[in-house]
Amino acid sequence: MTSVSLSPNGDFLTLDLEGQPRRFHAIWLRDNAQDDQTRAPGNGQRLVALRDIPAETKLAAVELSGETLRVSFAPEDKTVEFDLSWLAANAYDKVARAEAGWLPDETTPWNSSLMSDVPIGDFQQLAKGGDALRDWLGKVTRYGFGKIENGPLEDGSLFKVVDLFGYVRETNYGRHFEVRTEVNPTNLAFTGLGLQAHTDNPYRDPVPSIQVLYCLESSAAGGENMVVDGFAAALRLRAENEEYFDVLAKYCARFEYAGDAETCLRSRRPMIELAPDGELIGVRFNNRSLAAVKDVPFGDMDTYYAAYRRLGEIIDDEAMEVTFRLEPGEGFVVDNTRVLHARKAYSGTGTRWLQGCYADKDGLNSKFAALSAQQEG
Ligand code: FE2
Repeated sequence: MTSVSLSPNGDFLTLDLEGQPRRFHAIWLRDNAQDDQTRAPGNGQRLVALRDIPAETKLAAVELSGETLRVSFAPEDKTVEFDLSWLAANAYDKVARAEAGWLPDETTPWNSSLMSDVPIGDFQQLAKGGDALRDWLGKVTRYGFGKIENGPLEDGSLFKVVDLFGYVRETNYGRHFEVRTEVNPTNLAFTGLGLQAHTDNPYRDPVPSIQVLYCLESSAAGGENMVVDGFAAALRLRAENEEYFDVLAKYCARFEYAGDAETCLRSRRPMIELAPDGELIGVRFNNRSLAAVKDVPFGDMDTYYAAYRRLGEIIDDEAMEVTFRLEPGEGFVVDNTRVLHARKAYSGTGTRWLQGCYADKDGLNSKFAALSAQQEG
């Protein structure tokens, strides 16, 4: 039986929700009122600013009626209703997470064992939208990457992948970039060397949060693509040595790219990024574009470099990586704020032609949430 009670001075109420007492402040309830004068009926946007709500707002009365809580505010003399399910979903009277580097339930860190369960979408199915697209986008948000198969073969097909969920982020490299390799073993300069796993363009602020790589031709042996979960790597670093995790989260690195006279991209951000409450929200790792790190105090620089080295070793560990080969008409999407990618070295002769582009995950997350809401609704 659900019950509700008011605090003596009307500052907050206590509601039993799913067996747990949850407190809600008067000012929070008033600001989150769902009535037509507070929220626009069509788009749900708030019609009032906090300045329109008296600072001395109190709860004058509360009443439960089935799945509805009726709340009256003073001094406005205003009564609004809340669905208990909405209050349960937005309850904040909980124990705060204490550890640095926590992840929300929707995010699952992974290692090489994900190899047997790579999130794959069939382009023809995804293009129809609906459940197939929602399920694949759900996996991309959970794991930070997803593969696409059975896609078109013409130049620019990667844009059709982006069209599934969002918009291309154009940069100084253009709307897309070409990754063409002619493998010629008689000249090492043209051998397709492997690259260490990295996140792309950490020197941009904001960083492109999605990268798409798409294969159009592939006749050379080797050159597999590999992805590593930066969140899993950071959490392994924390488990091994908390001081290493903390130093990479505490201090900003610097990244830079000045490849031509027109370009001078610089950023100052940590390799391991935490939200103010400790949520692990980003990883940046790119040996090629790390600039001189100058925001670490002298006394911590030894630890910083030891931590950076160890994070790199963890990233290089095969136990962390998922490897797959892209055939023509196949591509993959990575969350570039989390998942590192790399290319393994080529062997033999042949050509390989990939196209890449950037996009942002606000669009991807929005598409997933909207499809999920449609399905539930
Ligand atoms: Fe890259």
